Amino acid sequence: MNKRSIRISVPHIDENDVEMVVKALRSGWLVHGPLVEEFETRFAKYIGVKRALAVTNGTVALELSLRAIGVKPGDEVIVPSFTFIATANTVLMLGAKPVLCDIDLEIFSLDPSCVEDSISRRTRAVIPVHLYGHPADMDPIVRIARDHGVFVIEDAAQAHGALYKGMKCGSLGDLGAFSFYATKNMTTGEGGMVTTNSDDLARRVELLRNHGQEAKYIHIELGGNYRMTSIQAALGISQLEKLDRLNEIRRRNAEKMTQGIKKLGWLRPPIEKPWARHVYHQYVVMLEDDAPVSRDELASYLREHGVETAVHYPLPIHMQPLYRKLGYKDCCPNSYKASQRILSLPIHPALEEDDINYIIDLLSKI
Ligand SMILES: Cc1ncc(COP(=O)(O)O)c(C=O)c1O
Repeated sequence: MNKRSIRISVPHIDENDVEMVVKALRSGWLVHGPLVEEFETRFAKYIGVKRALAVTNGTVALELSLRAIGVKPGDEVIVPSFTFIATANTVLMLGAKPVLCDIDLEIFSLDPSCVEDSISRRTRAVIPVHLYGHPADMDPIVRIARDHGVFVIEDAAQAHGALYKGMKCGSLGDLGAFSFYATKNMTTGEGGMVTTNSDDLARRVELLRNHGQEAKYIHIELGGNYRMTSIQAALGISQLEKLDRLNEIRRRNAEKMTQGIKKLGWLRPPIEKPWARHVYHQYVVMLEDDAPVSRDELASYLREHGVETAVHYPLPIHMQPLYRKLGYKDCCPNSYKASQRILSLPIHPALEEDDINYIIDLLSKI
């Protein structure tokens, strides 16, 4: 077996992307302008919502969503304890308190029963995260939120094109927050988008991302500069065009990988619920109790053989040093277990069949 170099993620940039960016540079509109509007219109149509608002990144998309619904100091927002740090940190940034809920270990997303138990008089919102590209179980979460009059903000940063019961992630709550960071299923380098069916919330996000400006140099509230450039939007338009095709390749790669991994017996492949269309932003396996190696030994072994892996994420939120300093205590055993047992394997569309066979072969030699 020859040694190779297989990366965990590779951005998919083709000639069309390059041409679109060059067109933006030549258009004379580097910010605002028709390309940003076109990207927003196309993205809204793709997700199946009334409005999409382009912003500088996914963290800002979450923060502006929280600000749009009026989250303020003293409020509580329910978030999973197993997610990228931005989900919880945006709540902290507004002076509100992230209330951490455990996850369902099958899909690594918010456990709805924990959401029910965590609602208090101060709860303003719940943020389900469609982690790794598999949708959270939205129906019970939305039902609990509606029963208690709290907002649902979907963290869809990893779920471009993922479906929940036939509907796109980002169209199921009051607001959806997307990231177009370089490793995502579609990218604008850095970038983000807020999606919503509410004209009022869309208007709030529009104001907040542009210094609260209602008319030229007339500012009615405190906002910032969170605008996307036309250069990013141009890349976004061409990336969106191929998103479904590239997601299909990710799904095919995942199917092949899963076939091989199932035979091992000690690694659990990702689970796709019958109601879900997983878009495999990450392909995350979990070591079973009887695995012959530890997670870190497995990662080192694969690295020695040229296969890059990653741990998304090595610490649950409540064990992050920042949250320990803030007084968060042990909780959420599933989040902890996930952080110890998971490993992301390469699944990106540039992977060849041969690469997948190589990885499976390496695993079967353990
Ligand atoms: C689940 C989740 N939420 C939020 C973000 C934040 O997005 P960005 O990096 O574009 O700010 C990310 C990005 O990695 C993410 O994975």
